[in-house]
Amino acid sequence: MRLVLLGPPMAGKGTQASILAERFGLLHIAMGDLLRDSVAADTSLGRKAKKYMDAGALVPDAIVIGLIEGKLKTTNSEKGFILDGFPRTVAQAKQLEEFTDVDLVLCLEIAFNRLVERATGRRICRSCGAVYHMKNNPPKKPNVCDRDQGKLYSRNDDNAKVVQERLRAYEAQTRPVINYYSSREKLKFVDSDVSIEEVGNRLVNTILDRWPHLETEIKPAPEQEAAPSAEPLKTKEARKGRGTRRQHGRGRRGNVGKSRGIRGS
Ligand code: AP5
Repeated sequence: MRLVLLGPPMAGKGTQASILAERFGLLHIAMGDLLRDSVAADTSLGRKAKKYMDAGALVPDAIVIGLIEGKLKTTNSEKGFILDGFPRTVAQAKQLEEFTDVDLVLCLEIAFNRLVERATGRRICRSCGAVYHMKNNPPKKPNVCDRDQGKLYSRNDDNAKVVQERLRAYEAQTRPVINYYSSREKLKFVDSDVSIEEVGNRLVNTILDRWPHLETEIKPAPEQEAAPSAEPLKTKEARKGRGTRRQHGRGRRGNVGKSRGIRGS
């Protein structure tokens, strides 16, 4: 299963990719995390990338293509992978085809005016990378990770001004990637302006529509406590039990290890 998760900044790509990776045993490769790791390690690549990231612009294609190619070639992904935040330009999508096929592209849809609040409320565990939201998905204790008691922080690029730049970059450079995959009949849209749990249910059902035999293999949704903004499950899919428990504190670094930028199976 070779999946791509597309969607605007803050649409929930990291949250959902982490959950899908765990439930289907996939490798989760998060381009934003790979880049932030390079910045934290102060490599020359990280230093080059930082100025673009801080400004809310896309990092040049050559840098991100090199990173993803290296990861896919050197990491074992027996059951497949999910790419989170790559490709974001048509040039990246074309280059990806040079070294792997993509089976299904899931695109999270949400109106931009809903996204700024998601960014300003986001908090991330400094130690394990679990992602929270102060209102939609809060930790039990303020600023402390439920999983490992790590301290929570806000990303540099999660301020309102940079968020607007990130949205502009998405519209100009990533929107054409949606058309690219749509014309190849690989694209499915999923509304992400519903609870985290419900987005997860819809993604799982879209995947199972494509690979029905996986219904018997999928791991149950992780046991989670209800978040205050929880919406009751109403969908047919939820009643069928494909994912009826609440996700909470699921992050792009999830709970499958501390290696950054890449996780899973
Ligand atoms: P990256 O880290 O990938 O950032 P992004 O695409 O802007 O996406 P985010 O991580 O902000 O959001 P998300 O969609 O993962 O949402 P999340 O699950 O965290 O990239 C950062 C930068 O790196 C880019 O700006 C660029 O400079 C560079 N870069 C990366 N990839 C690149 C590429 N391919 N080419 C060039 N440059 C690249 O959720 C957000 C918040 O909302 C959380 O608090 C979460 O708890 C909450 N939330 C999630 N789902 C829901 C829900 N359903 N309801 C309510 N709240 C929710």
